[in-house]
Amino acid sequence: MWKLALLVLAQLSSAINAEVQFRVIKQWKFVNYTWGSNEAYRSALESGIYVPQNVVMAGITYYKDYFYITMPRMKSGVPATLGRISALPGFGTSPLIEPFPSWDFNKLDDCDALQNVQNLEIDPSGTMYILDGGHTHSLMQTPVKNCPAQLVIYDLRKNTTVSKHVFPESVASRNDSFLYDLVVDNDFVYITDNSANDPGIVVYSLSAGRSWKIRHSASMRADPKAQNFKVNNDVVNAPINIAGIALGPRTYHSASGVTLNHDREVFYCPMSSLHLYSISTAILQNEANSNNGQDYPGLVHDVGRKASQTDGMMMTNKGVLYYGLLGDNSIAQWNSTKPFSSGQKVLSRDPNYIQWTNAFTIDTNGSITVLSNTLQSFIHGDLDTHKYNFWLLSAEIGEQSYLYEDSSTMYSPLPNEETSEPSSSSSPTPTTSTSTTPSSTTTATPKLEQGGGGGGASQQILELSVIIMAVSTWFFYNN
Ligand SMILES: *[C@@H]1O[C@H](CO)[C@@H](O)[C@H](O)[C@H]1NC(C)=O
Ligand SMILES: *[C@@H]1O[C@H](CO)[C@@H](O)[C@H](O)[C@H]1NC(C)=O
Ligand SMILES: *[C@@H]1O[C@H](CO)[C@@H](O)[C@H](O)[C@H]1NC(C)=O
Ligand SMILES: *[C@@H]1O[C@H](CO)[C@@H](O)[C@H](O)[C@H]1NC(C)=O
Ligand SMILES: *[C@@H]1O[C@H](CO)[C@@H](O)[C@H](O)[C@H]1NC(C)=O
Repeated sequence: MWKLALLVLAQLSSAINAEVQFRVIKQWKFVNYTWGSNEAYRSALESGIYVPQNVVMAGITYYKDYFYITMPRMKSGVPATLGRISALPGFGTSPLIEPFPSWDFNKLDDCDALQNVQNLEIDPSGTMYILDGGHTHSLMQTPVKNCPAQLVIYDLRKNTTVSKHVFPESVASRNDSFLYDLVVDNDFVYITDNSANDPGIVVYSLSAGRSWKIRHSASMRADPKAQNFKVNNDVVNAPINIAGIALGPRTYHSASGVTLNHDREVFYCPMSSLHLYSISTAILQNEANSNNGQDYPGLVHDVGRKASQTDGMMMTNKGVLYYGLLGDNSIAQWNSTKPFSSGQKVLSRDPNYIQWTNAFTIDTNGSITVLSNTLQSFIHGDLDTHKYNFWLLSAEIGEQSYLYEDSSTMYSPLPNEETSEPSSSSSPTPTTSTSTTPSSTTTATPKLEQGGGGGGASQQILELSVIIMAVSTWFFYNN
């Protein structure tokens, strides 16, 4: 009872921007599933089909009172790679994951089933886009590469698979591709390929049933100067290519009257980079820009510099980007109608709850939820299942996902200040860091803020005790 109250009321220690307050809504030490029977549970444990310390929740997408959650098969013992939990408030701690759509659909070593789901997206009509990388056991001695990468399109209203696109070898090679994250733009799906050898943005056209890849080394490959960072005490030191992706609203150009421009901007960054980049959907949609496997020769925007490395990110339909800053234990926001250098804000910073911010989702009630985990320790060894490893943190932002059209807003992004061309002269790291580092992130001392919501005196005391616990831990890590 005490623990549950703490969980629901936990107020993160450093609410730097008082308007947006993240609260822990769920937490887990390890993932467990809705096993059909005690017998099924026991035999899965005994046979190694289920190894609790090897199951990591990574992606999350809200739809109609459920959170759909992915569990990539990075190590052995992940019995289902896609599942869901109720998103209704008050659902309690450590909810069991219900394999989705079924146990059968998650069968390992069956290329017709889901093998390794990293992320998924669901559009407002209930069409689910499931990104299955195909290969499994990527963090083990012998990775398994028996199945090709595929995009499975599933209709949640009818509970049926609509179609599957198996990516051709030239787009997502079975040996090298690592399809990571995706955004959906009506007829098109844009997917980051985190491949070490051939990174890029994979574009899939639903109407054409075709896919291709756009490459741009200067903005899509790791920056060696940004490959070494720390999340709490764990060092991450590897060149990791393009990973996080977000899609902006449709743009309007109003220089002389108002012109609706159907192009949108796709935002992305390599994990090993401090820069955010963007490219127009018009460029991505033109298969000719795949340029026979060579780099796209045109312009890509270098939006600017962040305070740390980023994995998950998401944009609202009013053009506000939410993203994690991994080495800073923080969640940040950028209103894209303002300059990146001065418009970034850190919303919350906490070393306990905000660790590896893997993915964001926005529900239809105007709340954003981030899935935070301890991936930085998992890549060095198994999970310590005696402590908490997964958290869902939510904040009310009163905005909707980029997937919902917003005709009331005349969205007009700021003119791009910088551009990045794939020439050797353009270095991905600026020479001056002080002027481009967001000022708010230098506010390292967490402020104590009480939650805006009601609650009696006893609730307030509870909240305060959690804040103090978090702040003392913060000092432990930072001093
Ligand atoms: C895992 O979930 C099953 C129910 O599906 C339950 O019987 C079992 O006790 C759970 N295991 C743990 C360690 O909580
Ligand atoms: C969203 O709001 C509706 C109506 O207030 C409520 O019934 C529902 O539970 C809410 N959903 C979530 C996920 O909070
Ligand atoms: C789809 O499955 C859900 C349960 O997962 C069920 O409630 C719903 O009725 C099903 N819909 C159809 C059309 O079968
Ligand atoms: C993939 O890797 C395996 C093992 O290294 C190798 O035998 C195979 O030829 C590779 N396939 C392609 C298409 O490169
Ligand atoms: C973004 O900034 C613009 C310009 O200051 C402002 O009008 C708009 O309300 C902001 N959008 C959000 C969602 O905060």
